[in-house]
Formats: sequence, C-alpha cells, structure tokens
Amino acid sequence: MSVLKILCCLLLTSHLNVGKNIKGHRAAATEQRGALRMNELHVSSSVFSLFLEGEDTCKLDPLQLHTLTSCGFNSSNPLIIITHGWSLDGMMESWVHRLATTLKTHLIDVNVLITDWLTLAHQHYPTAAQSTRTVGRDIAHLLHSLQVNFQYPVRKVHLIGYSLGAHISGFAGSYLEGSQKIGRITGLDPAGPLFEGMSPTDRLSPDDAEFVDAIHTFTHERMGLSVGIKQAVAHYDFYPNGGNFQPGCDLQDIYEHISTYGLLGFEQTVKCAHERSVHLFIDSLLNKDKQSMAYRCSDQSAFNKGICLDCRKNRCNTLGYNIKKVRSSTSKRLYLKTGPRMPYKLYHYQFRIQFVNQMVEIEPYLTISLSGTKEESGDLPIHVTETILGNKTFTFLITLDKDLGDLMMLKLHWEGSALWKTMWNRVQTFIPWGGEQHKPVMTVGHVRVKVGESQKRTSFCAKTNDGQQIEVSQDKIFVRCEGDTSKKQRRRNHN
Ligand SMILES: *[C@@H]1O[C@H](CO)[C@@H](O)[C@H](O)[C@H]1NC(C)=O
Ligand SMILES: *[C@@H]1O[C@H](CO)[C@@H](O)[C@H](O)[C@H]1NC(C)=O
Repeated sequence: MSVLKILCCLLLTSHLNVGKNIKGHRAAATEQRGALRMNELHVSSSVFSLFLEGEDTCKLDPLQLHTLTSCGFNSSNPLIIITHGWSLDGMMESWVHRLATTLKTHLIDVNVLITDWLTLAHQHYPTAAQSTRTVGRDIAHLLHSLQVNFQYPVRKVHLIGYSLGAHISGFAGSYLEGSQKIGRITGLDPAGPLFEGMSPTDRLSPDDAEFVDAIHTFTHERMGLSVGIKQAVAHYDFYPNGGNFQPGCDLQDIYEHISTYGLLGFEQTVKCAHERSVHLFIDSLLNKDKQSMAYRCSDQSAFNKGICLDCRKNRCNTLGYNIKKVRSSTSKRLYLKTGPRMPYKLYHYQFRIQFVNQMVEIEPYLTISLSGTKEESGDLPIHVTETILGNKTFTFLITLDKDLGDLMMLKLHWEGSALWKTMWNRVQTFIPWGGEQHKPVMTVGHVRVKVGESQKRTSFCAKTNDGQQIEVSQDKIFVRCEGDTSKKQRRRNHN
C-alpha cells in the first residue's frame, strides 16, 4: 500500500470537494453551534479511556459517570485529553501511548484521557474532517458532565490534539462557550486541508480556550494544499525550521527508518514531519534541561538572518508543555531551529560581521570557530551569499546543539573560492615579485555575537593590531573587545 498515493488522493479529493464540503461544513456549523443541550440524551460517537500507570487503559462510559471514579479519575488533579487525527488504517498510532505515558510519568498527579474516534477518522479525509465537530461535541459533553457531577472546573483541562484532533479540541472548547473556558489547548500540526483560511469559528482558534498554542511542522505546499495548516491559529504559533518540513525527515533517511521501523519505514518517512510536532512536545516533557526556545519573527528568511533573537516583551517563549502562558489579542508567530532527533534543542547564535572598506567585491566562504567557557563549536562553514563591497555588516544565524557558555574567543578563516585560489596562484607564478600588493584582502571591523538562549551579547576585536586584515587561507583570532562590559551591552540592546 502506497502511503504517498493515499496522500495524493487525500489532497486531490479534498481539493475537488472543497466547495461542496465548505457548504456542508457551514450548514453543520449553524445547526450545531451554540450551547450544548445538556438535558437531551447525548449519544457519544467517541470512546474515551483513562490512561493508567503501566500503559493500561480503562474505558469510560460518558453516560455512566461512576465509571470515571472506578477507572481512577481523581477530580483534584488536572485533566489532559489527547485526541488523534485522520486515520489511514483504523489503528491507534503509537505516538498516542508514548505521549500518554510521558505525561503520566513526568507530571504524576494528572488524569490522562484518550479520545478514540477511529471509526469516524478511518474514512475519506473530507468525511473525517466533517466529523471533527461531532467529536468536539462529544468532548464538550464529557467536560460538561464533569462540571455538573464533580464540580470539576474546565480551566483545569488541557486538550492536546494532533492534526484533525487539533480542530476537534478547538470545537470542544467553542461548544463550552458561555460557561467557563477550557484552560489550555495545544494543537500539534493542526490539519490544513478544509481548515486553512476558514473563519476562526470553523477551525482551532485562540477563542477556544484561555490559552492556545500550536506547533506547525509540515506546512510544505503541494497543489495549493498542505498537510499542516500554515496560518496562525493560536496565541503562540511555533514554526520549527520554518514549519515547512523537518530535519531528519528527508526521503534519503528512508533506509534508516526502514531499519528502525521495518516495513512501516516508508509510512514513517511520509508522516515524519507531520508527527514531529508530537515528538517535539514529548521532548519538552522528557528533557527538562533542554527546553527549546523560539523567537517572534515576521518570517523564516528574517529569522535566518538572526535578527529575531529578542526576548523582551514576551517576544520569545518555550516550545512545548512548559510554555509561558501569556495571553495576547493577536497570534504570535515564533520561529526556531531544531535538530533531526531528540533532544531537538539547538542554541541560536546571531553573528554580525562588519566588513570595512572592501575595495574588491567578494562573496567569501568563511569558517568560524567559537570558544566559550564550557565548550568549543568546532569549525562552522559559512557562505556569505551577499556580495561584500565598501562598508557592510553581514548578519546571519548559526545553530549549535551545545551551549558554549560565555564566549571568549573567535577564529575566522577565509577559505576564498576556488576561483580566487587559482587566480592568486597564477598571479604568483607569473609575477612572483609583484603579487604582494594584489593579494586579496578582507578587512573585518568588529564581530558581534548574540546568543538567543542567554540573551548575552559579546563584541569581538582582532587580537593583534595589524589592521584587522584577513588574507585568503589565513586564520584570524578575535578576542572579547576591551571594555566589553555589561553596561555597554545594555546600551547596544537595540541592535
Ligand atoms: C488525588 O490526588 C491527590 C494529589 O493531587 C492525592 O493527595 C489524593 O490522595 C488522590 N485521591 C485519591 C482518591 O487517590
Ligand atoms: C567606510 O568607512 C570608513 C570609516 O570607518 C571610511 O573612511 C570609508 O570611506 C568608508 N568606505 C566606503 C566605501 O564607504
């Protein structure tokens, strides 16, 4: 069975049916919106099970709430409800239990509930997408019964939904409108097709809970559609690696996946970027000392220049469970780079290199290595993609999987280009006595480095006083500038 073929079908059918389904969707919306009619008997299409220690589950009967107590529900503890997405094979995906186990073992005093809507999810995508309101209502009914029968405050509820499950969680929240709001909703790569561009009432939105966060990991577009939703749908929307696609998910990694997952490897590869949202969230629970930090930015290309590593006024936040829950009226788009495997955290370094009075246009290949009080970076190749002429400050972002500590020293090496090297060699061969003054030279003023994670800035100056000139293939050592005090750093905060 080709998962790619299925994905293509999904995209095609949803594309063709868009008009029809939006109408169906809207009709269903007017029909189903508004308060829940609680005195009516509600027959749930979803099955809920409480997740217990040791990976056991206990099925609940929403009409017989005493099953909650016998299943071990503890009303003094918070409640987390995990909701899966569209299903290809009608089976519960393995991440569900992994997430449940991680929540249970790392948060301890917490009730973890799993929504099973596989019968509705194992349909053509548009049909499954239309069922999201139904399932949302099932959850809302369950929460309402908890309020009535256990005086359980819904602000102690955290809904975590993956793909279509994210919109389900949003609908659950909106059905409880009027009464108290759900505490938190986390959308893990909320589904795109049939939800992208819809009004806030027809998808997950910041109105659905006190606090809403979303992680977008697979928004790569094909035929005008993307598996994950591109638009911001939360108070904080995280776009790891731009949100398009994720490192370690390329098709060339298929062999690694096949050796890890056997024949499922191919499917794992296709789902890899979409499901990365879940594993980033799990990572935030497992690796408390490696919390990934993300920064508010207008788009990925600005982020790649390193100009967004600012934490003032809640411009940065922690990805995953331990997010700082600051509400705002607008959605904030946050960017970060992550590694290909857990722990995913990377440290963000912004470099500003000042080139002075460059007479000949250059597009240098540089190798940078940084030494800090804790670690050394090793050689980091940088290709300056802008031409450098005259006085110019070149800004870029480097990420490292380790924390270097306080930065002490920087080594710059100009690789030159193959062209430069052959030209230079030829000049030397023909006029060995006259080459000296034509030798390509690059003059670097100061180099400033800002670390996103620590918000620390360091200014580097050339160690020796030889005019800060760098020749091709020469190493140049930069050390912290004299008088690089914290007072100065504060004044420079606007850079
Ligand atoms: C419920 O959880 C609390 C801790 O939050 C614990 O003290 C209490 O004993 C639990 N109740 C039951 C019935 O297990
Ligand atoms: C670059 O700046 C220096 C002073 O720092 C100045 O003397 C020089 O003329 C400038 N060069 C260009 C091309 O603007």
